[in-house]
Amino acid sequence: MKKHLVLTFIFFAACVMASAAQQAPAQQNASAQQQQNAPQGNAANGRKLFVSFGCYQCHGYEAQGGSAGARLAPRPIPYAQLLKYVRHPTGEMPPFTEKVVKDSELTDIYAFLRAQPPAPDVDKIPLLKQ
Ligand code: HEC
Repeated sequence: MKKHLVLTFIFFAACVMASAAQQAPAQQNASAQQQQNAPQGNAANGRKLFVSFGCYQCHGYEAQGGSAGARLAPRPIPYAQLLKYVRHPTGEMPPFTEKVVKDSELTDIYAFLRAQPPAPDVDKIPLLKQ
């Protein structure tokens, strides 16, 4: 009888661990999914707009971020959130209304952000090996 209880406990513990292990990638997938759900944009045009609207002044030409603005690429926040944030920022960033930057232009900027290559591995940067 006692052995049976121990086995039951082990079984439940294993279930809990298995479902916890499944949850982490599921959350990552959800945000990747939200990025993919964004409407198709033109990344090349997005790069031009990122410069002409002055986003680069704070976020950097490659949207890599810097002292004045957050890193945006290559894994931007979900499209709907980006649209909302650019219209109604809550921190240091100035707002851009629809009259200034159209939704379709933000779609292109979003495509540009997503198309940026990921940052290289630290040990693949020769300067850091010196
Ligand atoms: C004057 C500097 C400045 C300019 C210009 C600017 N930003 Fe920002 N942005 C910021 C800062 C600083 C933040 C960090 C949050 C904050 O303080 O508002 C930010 C945050 C963001 C975020 C949220 C990032 C996150 O991870 O939550 C997005 C998206 C964004 N900017 C997009 C843009 C786009 C697109 C443009 C051009 C249309 C732009 N920004 C122009 C300064 C700027």
